[in-house]
Amino acid sequence: MPEYYRRNFHFQSNGYLGKSSADLYEHQVEILFSGAADAMRRLLIPSLKKHFAHAGDGTGLHFLEIGSGTGRLTRFIALAFPKAHITCVDLSSFYLKEAQLRLGSFHRIDYMQGKGEALPLVDGTFDAVFSCFLFHELPSDVRVAMIKEGKRLLKPEWPLWYGGFSAVG
Ligand SMILES: C[S@@+](CC[C@H](N)C(=O)[O-])C[C@H]1O[C@@H](n2cnc3c(N)ncnc32)[C@H](O)[C@@H]1O
Repeated sequence: MPEYYRRNFHFQSNGYLGKSSADLYEHQVEILFSGAADAMRRLLIPSLKKHFAHAGDGTGLHFLEIGSGTGRLTRFIALAFPKAHITCVDLSSFYLKEAQLRLGSFHRIDYMQGKGEALPLVDGTFDAVFSCFLFHELPSDVRVAMIKEGKRLLKPEWPLWYGGFSAVG
């Protein structure tokens, strides 16, 4: 685990590295964002729908979500693009396990424990690479490395497009 990752995010014991943290995560994010967290996650969908208007239900698309956590955004994307394949990456096995439990009925999702800034995946594999509520937690050199990694993993025909916000700083 990288050094920056081994701290108590969100004041939770064990940071991201514990089952109780994964169990509590969604509730405490809802409190942090006054009940608006899901609406903020769904802000990604209109842009993806516009960009992939030709793909309709997502047939033939492969998405990469970095820092997928408990899979809350993943579920919205899977509902918006029911035929797309989604690869979820997260450093926390506890959060990935929670996501797998939640998303068991979706059959086009796979899960990988790993660092978004260095992934053992083939160049040009994905139609879109995205994350939610992640970049504000990363040191700036890791942010840069993660954007470069995302660009490497994107299919070459797609331009690099980055949009985001951070609610914390
Ligand atoms: C604030 S949570 C966001 C989770 C989810 N995207 C959401 O909408 O709730 C950040 C997530 O990113 C993961 N994470 C942090 N640094 C990471 C890295 N370098 N590579 C992969 N995942 C990382 C954490 O384990 C955590 O699950």
